[in-house]
Amino acid sequence: MSDVTHITVIGAGTMGSGIALTAAMAGIKVCQVDVSQDQLDRARGYHEKTAARNVAKERMTQSQADEMLAGIGYATETCMAGESQFAIEAATENKGLKKKIFASMVETFSNDCILATNTSSISITSIADQVGSAADRVIGMHFFNPVPVMKLVEVIKCPATSQTTLDRTMELGEAMGKTPIAANDHPGFVSNRVLMPMINEAFHAWNDGVAEPEAIDGIMKLGCAFPMGPLRLADLIGLDVCRDIMLVLHEGLGHPNKYAPCPKLVELVEAGRLGNKTSWGVYDYRQAAATA
Ligand code: 3HC
Repeated sequence: MSDVTHITVIGAGTMGSGIALTAAMAGIKVCQVDVSQDQLDRARGYHEKTAARNVAKERMTQSQADEMLAGIGYATETCMAGESQFAIEAATENKGLKKKIFASMVETFSNDCILATNTSSISITSIADQVGSAADRVIGMHFFNPVPVMKLVEVIKCPATSQTTLDRTMELGEAMGKTPIAANDHPGFVSNRVLMPMINEAFHAWNDGVAEPEAIDGIMKLGCAFPMGPLRLADLIGLDVCRDIMLVLHEGLGHPNKYAPCPKLVELVEAGRLGNKTSWGVYDYRQAAATA
């Protein structure tokens, strides 16, 4: 059973705000940090909206929702640094940025705070290399979008990760209502090594004129019992994220063409069509966003 009462979540984007909300719903006090006040305001709005929905659906009372929301602090630097037993980094998927954040996390948090990253594909070993003797407290805690709904947390240990860190992370995952499953530190871990080539292949099928997106998604959704087709899922994840993960697989796994991002995927990213977050990716959501 987890004894974690306080955590810090660094990054208030889609994943960071989802992780913060999920922890708060499990009764954990959360400090949500982001360098951008706008991003923090968006995270707070998302937390309030989801809490209101849970009250309307009678999953919690108004006073439980108020208490849960009061348990989340929002800060552009840090809050609760001394009390946090876990610091979960969920910043932009950029290797240089994550390394910088980890180098400062080791200074900010206490000597027994676990330093977790929600990276979807960056090597945990390369992140652990930034923190010297604290490397035994570094671990991957990979959540799935939308975090409050998806049951899995993929826990990634690197050679330096201690057994205590692994055990405590598995316990926290369970306390947050997730099913934690451990994997080793290889490019893409398990989830994205398997998922991303399928998404990339769906872009190839579209690019090669096999079918239009609606048909590709319809076939995969109905034929494989997926909750949504691979191109619609790419929009949910973010096309830039999909491209970046393919690049990590391409560089890390060594096949000349197998993992190269499909030109169609790259073209959309370069056109600024990043999926749900820009209201336009494979599909166009701009009209729906304007009327929401
Ligand atoms: N936050 C909180 N709750 C959310 C939510 C969000 N962002 N998005 C959806 N929900 C809730 C809805 O409120 C609804 O709850 P309710 O019980 O109160 O009605 C419930 O989820 C179902 O949502 P909808 O009715 O809107 O729609 P669907 O039934 O179609 O479900 C879905 C939406 C949960 C997104 C479902 O389509 C799904 O499971 N899709 C696949 C998602 C997936 O595969 N994610 C993994 C991506 S890979 C990843 O994240 C790893 C990374 O490294 C790339």
